[in-house]
Amino acid sequence: MAKKLLFYRCPVCNSLVELIDNGGHSLTCCGQSMELLVSKKDGEGDEYHQPLLKHRNGLLYVEVGSKPHPQSAEHQITCILFVTKQTVRRSDIRSGSSATAVFTDKDHGDVYAYCNVHGLFKTSF
Ligand SMILES: [Fe+2]
Repeated sequence: MAKKLLFYRCPVCNSLVELIDNGGHSLTCCGQSMELLVSKKDGEGDEYHQPLLKHRNGLLYVEVGSKPHPQSAEHQITCILFVTKQTVRRSDIRSGSSATAVFTDKDHGDVYAYCNVHGLFKTSF
């Protein structure tokens, strides 16, 4: 089973935080509590956000959505993460670039895609 990641977003400035070690305190930003992001899982996402996976030649190819997601500065997939039991790997996506990433393949894990407008999407394998 992959490590469980917790992401928080500021409702004011939209800063995104990954919680590495939970000390039991709430996170604040811009004077407000940050919101815990709940990822949409396999089958809950839509054709623009769900991470799609292909395993080939020892690599894991990730493409976000069966239809191209907008990649403008205002609305884009900003990162794709591949999480296993012991590792977290992140590929940052620049605006204007396609929402794709390539990781070294593993037997199982969770792949997350973060859209700065629509939130967090996850595919497990
Ligand atoms: Fe989106």
